[in-house]
Amino acid sequence: MEIILAGGTGQVGRLLVRALTSQGHSCVVLTRRPPAEAPTPLLREVQWDGRTLGPWCADLEGVDAVINLAGRSVDCRYTERNLEAMRSSRVDSTRVMGQAIAACSRPPAIWLQAGTATIYSHRFDAPNDEITGSLGGAEPGVPALWGRSVDIARAWEAELNAAPTPATRKVVLRSALTLSVDRGGVFDVLARLARLGVGRQGNGRQFVSWIHEHDFVAAVLFLLSRSDLTGAFNLSAPHPLPNRDFMACLHEALGTWAAFPVPRVLLEAGALLRRTETELLLKSRRVVPTRLLQAGFRFQYEDFSEAVDELISRWRPQPRPASSGTILSRRRWLRS
Ligand SMILES: NC(=O)c1ccc[n+]([C@@H]2O[C@H](COP(=O)([O-])OP(=O)(O)OC[C@H]3O[C@@H](n4cnc5c(N)ncnc54)[C@H](OP(=O)(O)O)[C@@H]3O)[C@@H](O)[C@H]2O)c1
Repeated sequence: MEIILAGGTGQVGRLLVRALTSQGHSCVVLTRRPPAEAPTPLLREVQWDGRTLGPWCADLEGVDAVINLAGRSVDCRYTERNLEAMRSSRVDSTRVMGQAIAACSRPPAIWLQAGTATIYSHRFDAPNDEITGSLGGAEPGVPALWGRSVDIARAWEAELNAAPTPATRKVVLRSALTLSVDRGGVFDVLARLARLGVGRQGNGRQFVSWIHEHDFVAAVLFLLSRSDLTGAFNLSAPHPLPNRDFMACLHEALGTWAAFPVPRVLLEAGALLRRTETELLLKSRRVVPTRLLQAGFRFQYEDFSEAVDELISRWRPQPRPASSGTILSRRRWLRS
């Protein structure tokens, strides 16, 4: 297959490009940076700005698939300026992708659009799925700022739905935390914190939804191959678990000697110092992949205890770069 990956230079993009090219698919990555030399003839970088049509649109002609992952990192304070950058980078890149596809004489067969499991409500009592799940934004007792992330997620999906691309199948990836062993990724950061003795965050009751990188790649390939599937899909393992259990599994796999709970007030102080927010750690994302399971997708890693053993067997912590600041500053995934 020939696949365009917009924003394919980030954490998720890198793991997809690696997997797709290793299986012989050719990838074109759209990036705002000057294109870098590719390590394989199956990979090419093309510049775009994520907002306007340009010469990059020619690369969409006749390709099999487009995967749009572009968006400003959400690892930041939710100032009005940052919220607007988070929103516009997602909505504008989705809009211009729709315009580019609509202008193709041979449009891609499928458009996979990144979304997020954050779109669902903060919830403990029951899982949220694509069919009966409740979207967030109106839950009582949650910080108002959490509603702003939900608004962004909804606007992102609305832009995809509005795109006039009748010949292209559209799928939204409502992804949970995507766990890979890449440096700076979610798992790398959590494992480092656990090694330092960090245990559950807050009261630890909040659910963590996650997906192993192998299942993420397999699910993307599954969605690419199944021409009957459209709409929103939760890319999350079938068994989300409370944060306290998630951290306990991680500690057990690492063989750490102690795990200290981090109370909410300390998390908030750390987030303030680090210029980020605590939503990713404290919002209860109890999200399950009903539509993938109904479509016949089988997860290799359904339980976190299995996933964490596999990940730890490959995880190789590296020293912090001198410029990376505090330990907390490694949490670039925090707002993803
Ligand atoms: N990682 C996760 O666990 C996770 C979970 C749920 C949802 N997601 C969503 O999935 C997508 C990919 O995640 P990721 O972790 O790979 O994100 P990432 O590492 O932050 O990469 C996103 C890419 O988007 C591009 N980008 C950044 N700012 C942009 C802007 N203002 N306009 C256009 N493009 C911009 C960048 O590419 P260039 O600098 O090369 O242009 C960057 O490499 C994101 O939208 C994220 O919200 C991720």
